[in-house]
Amino acid sequence: MTDRLETRADFEKFQQTARQRWDELWQGDKLVVSVGVDSSSEPKGASRVLAACREALRGTNAIVREVSGNGAMWMEPTVEIKRPGEPPVVYGWITPEDVPALLAGELQEQAVGVRAPEAFGDIPPLDEHPFFKHQVRIVMEDFGVIEPDSIEDAIARGAYSALSTVLFEMSAEDAIAEVTASGLRGRGGAGFPAGIKWESGRKARARPKFVAVNSHEGEPNVYKDRRIHEGDPHKILEGMLIASVVCGAERAYNYIGGEYPLAIKRFRRAVADAERLGLIGKNILGSGQDVEVRVRTGGGAYICGEGSALMYSVMGVRGQPRTKPPRSVEEGLWKRPTVLNNTETFANVPAIINKGGEWFSKIGTSTSAGTKMMTVQGPLKHVGLVETPMGIPMRTLIEEVWGGMREGHQFRGVQTGGVSAGPLTAEHLDYAVDFDSMTEIGGMLGSGGFVVFDQHVCPVDFARYLTAFNRVESCSKCVPCHRGNPALVEILDRIRLGGGGREDLPLMERTSKHIIDLSLCGLGQVAPIPLLGMMKMYPQDFLDHIDRHVCAAGACPIAAPETLATAAD
Ligand SMILES: Cc1cc2nc3c(=O)[nH]c(=O)nc-3n(C[C@H](O)[C@H](O)[C@H](O)COP(=O)(O)O)c2cc1C
Ligand code: SF4
Repeated sequence: MTDRLETRADFEKFQQTARQRWDELWQGDKLVVSVGVDSSSEPKGASRVLAACREALRGTNAIVREVSGNGAMWMEPTVEIKRPGEPPVVYGWITPEDVPALLAGELQEQAVGVRAPEAFGDIPPLDEHPFFKHQVRIVMEDFGVIEPDSIEDAIARGAYSALSTVLFEMSAEDAIAEVTASGLRGRGGAGFPAGIKWESGRKARARPKFVAVNSHEGEPNVYKDRRIHEGDPHKILEGMLIASVVCGAERAYNYIGGEYPLAIKRFRRAVADAERLGLIGKNILGSGQDVEVRVRTGGGAYICGEGSALMYSVMGVRGQPRTKPPRSVEEGLWKRPTVLNNTETFANVPAIINKGGEWFSKIGTSTSAGTKMMTVQGPLKHVGLVETPMGIPMRTLIEEVWGGMREGHQFRGVQTGGVSAGPLTAEHLDYAVDFDSMTEIGGMLGSGGFVVFDQHVCPVDFARYLTAFNRVESCSKCVPCHRGNPALVEILDRIRLGGGGREDLPLMERTSKHIIDLSLCGLGQVAPIPLLGMMKMYPQDFLDHIDRHVCAAGACPIAAPETLATAAD
């Protein structure tokens, strides 16, 4: 076990050793087998595949590693095999029973790509696959490559270099200037410029100050932050340490959704290892800077992702939003200045410090710089987590990156913004996916979670699902949201059951307007927007339910039996 690193020179020596070890791993004469284990591959048996690899190679000098998946959930569980003198080859759809044949080199038809720039025999580079071709990975750079539980791997790949630069070479003002120049906007939904928030945090006079990471991610269909914890937890940790140093915060909290045990486990391990090395705590690397890190977990309420509710929850109080101002950067945790950002926002910061704000600002679009991690659900061929430059057309994402619709499924729309925005239809596919373009057309980038739906999904039923989610998750603090959302669900149920009337349509619009205009926090202020979007994009479906008592998708209780039979095909 390595002792605490007392100085920057100690860190650089450690880094050198870690890099040598890393090079030897990939250039040596041992078989290296890396199995992707994370929350999406685990239910498909990834841990059993890992155990089977360990068992098969017991007593040999082969190295078996537990990495995370690389986002390509459609081909999980994945195993990467690096034989001496050959490049690493990634195999997909591996079961524990496949392992002996895989190790014997007999499963070539399941080789998806080689993790190298050149083809290896018939196996093309992984990056040429349409799923990877359009991606630019900053946050996900080392997903599936490093072992998330190994701080040595992370340091070999550059972790904590940016922290070291900020501690010893840059003033707080200069570091924040890089973040501002990068154009980095918050990845938690609202897209507020991170540099401006950090500068306010730095200038705040009250002490102590805090940094908080919003890793709650309670929205359905969104799983990117969980996966950063599972794939490369040190990127988050380094980002929050840099923020703490430059804003003058003495303690940083990471608030993680309690439903994500693997994310919590891997992040806690990263914190323990960084503490052991002296990258967290008193007098980090002899710089005179002190930063403590704490992990807090949520109890499963979506509202605890809202900034002010999150802070109450961290403090051990019931998580409910409060009115603003004061903003949390003035009065946050324990009424002290607190810089709160989303996980992905923090995870982008090490690369911005290492490569410069200007480098980052050139990726993406002029108003939405950098990349965005995006998740998808729906009947697509290549469902998975991706990181693409901001501004990628929605069509490229759906038809190329995610592989288009599976056989028998026709594209009907894509629900954007998690539960906070409306759907987009085929006519919107050529619009860019970034903060501003999506809002212009009634969608929302939000935290980057999309649901693509087909002819079997009924817009009335889907609107009911999204509204019911907000009804259940409303914290009940203010009347418009607490009483208004159940009223909307009640009307939608009436329509779904065949008892709706035309007068229900303006009634839902009026009720929605009241909820949006009068609710206290962001949950209520956007809760009816998916419903309004569904009504706008699919008016005929609502009229069919009301006038003809027909649900064309066969999803609602009023559906005729023959329609149901067609939908089940
Ligand atoms: C109901 C609700 C839930 C939210 N959930 C999250 C969440 O899970 N993660 C997150 O980063 N932001 C969430 N937000 C947004 C946060 O309030 C806040 O804007 C964000 O964490 C700031 O970080 P950013 O500027 O880096 O995006 C939520 C907002 C609302 C209204
Ligand atoms: S809008 Fe809804 S979630 Fe927000 S404070 Fe009011 S009741 Fe609570």
